[in-house]
Amino acid sequence: YLIGIDVGTSATKTVLFEESGKVVASASKEYPLYQPQNGWAEQKPEDWRDAVLETLSQVVLKSGVSKDDIKGIGISGQMHGLVMLDENNEVLRPSIIWCDQRTGAEVEDMLKIMTREQWIEITANPPLTGWTAAKILWVRKNEPDLYKRCKHILLPKDYIRLVLTGVFATEVSDASGMQLLNVAKRCWSEDVLHKLDIDQKLLGKVYESCEVTGTLLPEIAALTGLSEETKVVGGAGDNAAAAVGTGVVRDGTAFTTIGTSGVVFAHSSQVTIDPKGRVHTCCCAVPNAWHVMGVTQGAGLSLKWFKDNFCQDYMEEADKQGVDVYDLINRDVAQVKAGSDKLLYLPYLMGERTPHLDPDCRGVFFGLSAIHTKAHMLRAVMEGVSYSLSDCNDILKEMGIEVDQMMACGGGGKSPIWRQMLSDMYECGVKTVEQTEGPALGVAILAGVGCGIYESVESACDAMISEDKSTEPESVQAELYKNYHSLYKKLYEDLKDSYK
Ligand code: XUL
Repeated sequence: YLIGIDVGTSATKTVLFEESGKVVASASKEYPLYQPQNGWAEQKPEDWRDAVLETLSQVVLKSGVSKDDIKGIGISGQMHGLVMLDENNEVLRPSIIWCDQRTGAEVEDMLKIMTREQWIEITANPPLTGWTAAKILWVRKNEPDLYKRCKHILLPKDYIRLVLTGVFATEVSDASGMQLLNVAKRCWSEDVLHKLDIDQKLLGKVYESCEVTGTLLPEIAALTGLSEETKVVGGAGDNAAAAVGTGVVRDGTAFTTIGTSGVVFAHSSQVTIDPKGRVHTCCCAVPNAWHVMGVTQGAGLSLKWFKDNFCQDYMEEADKQGVDVYDLINRDVAQVKAGSDKLLYLPYLMGERTPHLDPDCRGVFFGLSAIHTKAHMLRAVMEGVSYSLSDCNDILKEMGIEVDQMMACGGGGKSPIWRQMLSDMYECGVKTVEQTEGPALGVAILAGVGCGIYESVESACDAMISEDKSTEPESVQAELYKNYHSLYKKLYEDLKDSYK
């Protein structure tokens, strides 16, 4: 048996799998997202820790599996978050997470140290507001006393590794999103660390994603009902993990995920870079391979925001019927025609990464009319997110990345309507795999490789993943979306100066 843990933005999900990939038990626990100012986003690492320990104990107990049969654990998590610890490994401040946009000035500072081209040459990406390096500089500038007390800098899932194993380490896929890694060479860039004056001692050792990084601490084994022998592998950032969990481990394969963020991700056996920096290039969880991904900041976040603020009625009905509120939303959205009667939504609640790299833009509903209902607004939100994902997909095409297999995953990937929108807009088939656990399955697969059960990530994927549903594009809708997508793009161009 193998366990995959995914430290997401809305919740942590822990899943225990058979070595065949079959789900035996799963548990999840939600936690809050704090937004102390417009465009800021923080979470408490202690909340992640508590959620991981609670869900781990639950899956072990629920499964009834003997602890000695659980061979390995993989950890996946939201990328780019900054966790700072003092000399006693105590958390110094809430984590500034991936969608936080406070670091515009620090990105400018980074561009004074090296040119955009030099940054791309080493880290494969231009300086970005959401990435970890700019956040480290922000804390050093704005909270100097706290920075002086910082002895360790970790990414969210690597903080969990420390809690579970006592080991300070990271792995190539997540470390790529810190902007401190030489992405082609898959090691810390001494040059970047020197230029930013960040001491390498603050950072953990970098592993490949399927390498074993440690075993469980005795007190954690006792607390969760696991064995001290259980190995913890490098794991991966949530997107690199979702790639493994959907079998996207060879050239020609790609996936779209709709979680809190949305991502279009393509595997690449070469370091392939967008010179304009609109999509990211990172190491992937397969040794000697990389990936390119475009990111929508507010994907599932947009729908959740709309539901939480304006859908009390749906939530009450879901409670009464004992069903998932998103199933009720999907039911009503299906009644609205494609194009939402010309109501458009720009999903820029937390700024936008691909294609605009604009931390200042914000969300818009455009074209509201008295014929529109709440269901139109819900559909417009789902379509707006899909236009943004289409922007990502278009850039991958423009870069010459050929995709013959597009998978869908994440909470939004479970919605047949959302998959149909993606398929229509991309004008290609969109497939799912049987297990909907994307990142958790991905890191369990990496654990299977690290524990020697499988020889390679690719062969483990072949053994553990089976394809499920397939959605094909519908030409009439595809044509209609093409027109609306042009209007969607024009709206940003028309509005961008007004956000400043
Ligand atoms: C990727 C990104 C998000 C997070 C959150 O660059 O910021 O997808 O990993 O899940």
